[in-house]
Amino acid sequence: MGLLDGKKALITGARKGIGRGIALTLANEGADVGVNDIVDDAVSHRAAELISSRGVKGTFHAGDVSTVSGVNGVIDSFLSEHGQIDILVNNAIFPDQSRPLFDTDEAYWDRMMDLSLKGYFFAAQRAAREMVDQGSGGRIICLSSVHAYIAIEDWTAYGTAKAALRRMVKGFAVDLSGHDITANCIAPGAISNVLPVGDDDVIDGAPHDSINLKFHIPAAKGGLPSDIANAVLYLSSDLGQYVNGETILVDGGMIATRKIVD
Ligand SMILES: NC(=O)c1ccc[n+]([C@@H]2O[C@H](COP(=O)([O-])OP(=O)(O)OC[C@H]3O[C@@H](n4cnc5c(N)ncnc54)[C@H](O)[C@@H]3O)[C@@H](O)[C@H]2O)c1
Repeated sequence: MGLLDGKKALITGARKGIGRGIALTLANEGADVGVNDIVDDAVSHRAAELISSRGVKGTFHAGDVSTVSGVNGVIDSFLSEHGQIDILVNNAIFPDQSRPLFDTDEAYWDRMMDLSLKGYFFAAQRAAREMVDQGSGGRIICLSSVHAYIAIEDWTAYGTAKAALRRMVKGFAVDLSGHDITANCIAPGAISNVLPVGDDDVIDGAPHDSINLKFHIPAAKGGLPSDIANAVLYLSSDLGQYVNGETILVDGGMIATRKIVD
């Protein structure tokens, strides 16, 4: 018996990194999982295949979740395969997340906010609508960041979006009162997001090996996708059913110290 037997979970941006780790972890606990990503390639399809190999249903849903039509297309596709949605994990992000203040132009700002804020909001809104109609509760989880708490040089646009998510989930928690739907964020620290090499039927790729990182984090090591996925599992399952409108830091103590690195 798994913690999520029979649940249907959609994870955005789950081709690699933390999202892939979340997808495999929820599948290990009995959830049927839909993998979304903007990149539609063999790696994305392999993630869905690895989910199915666990005896649950794994599907891939290509799409850009930075637009409302993209979000709706992905959720429609997920619903046509799975029939309902119990867990939504908003996780997608593009690679160039830091940008010097004076190089942050309107196009970059819009790109950041479209994916990390607008896309997360409308995916959560659509999933919540389905969950309310289904009448069996649900879980909405957004990936925030340590950058929502502290200002590190060149990360202002990203940090602003991630900080807004902390407020956004509080709004969802309040507005969805009485529907047994919780909305929370996980705020990761420095997490390795590389694909595993060789045997790919595992959750984590290689850990960060930077000495700098170890020096600056009280845990004395970088984090792994499984560290974040286990926190998502907690929030997704009955274990975390009374946590609502909250953001949980999973950062090895990174922001407990003033010695921050990016
Ligand atoms: N890795 C870290 O150290 C860290 C730290 C703090 C927060 N986070 C957050 O965790 C989440 C996952 O981070 P990661 O490092 O695993 O990322 P990643 O770069 O490894 O994976 C992100 C995935 O999102 C996909 N994607 C990009 N744009 C998309 C779009 N428009 N629509 C759908 N998919 C899209 C990418 O193709 C990629 O597969 C992000 O929200 C990130 O901000 C990560």
